[in-house]
Amino acid sequence: MKVNLLRPRRLRKNEALRSMVRENTVSIKDFIYPIFVVPGQKVKEEISSLPGCYHFSVDEALKEVEKAAKVGIPAVEIFGLPEYKDDIGSSAWDMTSPVQQAMKAIKKEFPHMLIVGDVCLCQYTNSGHCGKLCGQEVDNDPTLELLAKTAVSQAEAGADIIAPSDMMDGRIAAIREALDKEKYENTSIMSYAVKYASAYYGPFRDAANSAPQFGNRKGYQMDPANSREAMKEVELDLAEGADIIMVKPALAYLDIVHQVREKINRPVAVYNVSGEYAMVKAAAANGWIDEKRIVMESMMCMKRAGADIIISYHAIDVAKWLKEEENNV
Ligand code: PBG
Ligand code: ZN
Repeated sequence: MKVNLLRPRRLRKNEALRSMVRENTVSIKDFIYPIFVVPGQKVKEEISSLPGCYHFSVDEALKEVEKAAKVGIPAVEIFGLPEYKDDIGSSAWDMTSPVQQAMKAIKKEFPHMLIVGDVCLCQYTNSGHCGKLCGQEVDNDPTLELLAKTAVSQAEAGADIIAPSDMMDGRIAAIREALDKEKYENTSIMSYAVKYASAYYGPFRDAANSAPQFGNRKGYQMDPANSREAMKEVELDLAEGADIIMVKPALAYLDIVHQVREKINRPVAVYNVSGEYAMVKAAAANGWIDEKRIVMESMMCMKRAGADIIISYHAIDVAKWLKEEENNV
């Protein structure tokens, strides 16, 4: 027998040892749960591309927030489908729109729940693009003003964290300045700093009715081939005042998450996007995978890559499964 054989298996002998030497953990405190709000009352309709997720009117959204609060989820991110669309997306900053109404109601009923506001214009413009158009292109600088207005309206409605997902240049500075000017200097910004032009957003665009009516988003979202450029985006957004940096999508981009984590001293968030969720749900519904194990493994891997915060449609299930594990020990 080789006495000096190195035996990593010694520390894998049983669960007590394995959990003692485990390097990363998933906690429900890491999660942000996305919720889609729509006009009307008593609406709760399952989203066909996102089984287990719903379109909620504000009254029904409150019940979902209550459910999230009960299982220990600390934050919800609000996405909205507006009553009307126009060329500049003005329902995005309309205080009577579902997003602003939902935020107000949640803040009132659940003051401890953190409210994250997705700031973008694609759900609100006729074109389905993330800003104001000039010809066939999104016009960067005039769009900044509209995004800033949207951010301020959400802060006014009760958002704790503003999360711009539009990928315009200079939007973090524009939003920070507008928030500060209106005395929302304590409202944080979580920048979708590294957001790739990804096919993984397909189910979300069905859910949010936000697909571009022509062309695509490659003129503003990032090329999946690039990682040095990701670091440039992060650098700029930090310089402009972002408090939290997000990478999106998550699973195919964990190398980027890792690089960002190594480089910065701010919290890193990942968005486990709609396509990632839909693929798991479809395979699970067919009995091809073990949904719980696949999801929990994926969440752990996001943490291992360096994510502090995970935005996921699985959040309520994750809470349930974490509880089960706790009770099994
Ligand atoms: C809006 C926005 C999108 C997502 C979040 N905010 C879609 C897009 O950029 O087309 C994607 C979320 C998901 O796929 O779960 N800009
Ligand atoms: Zn958008």
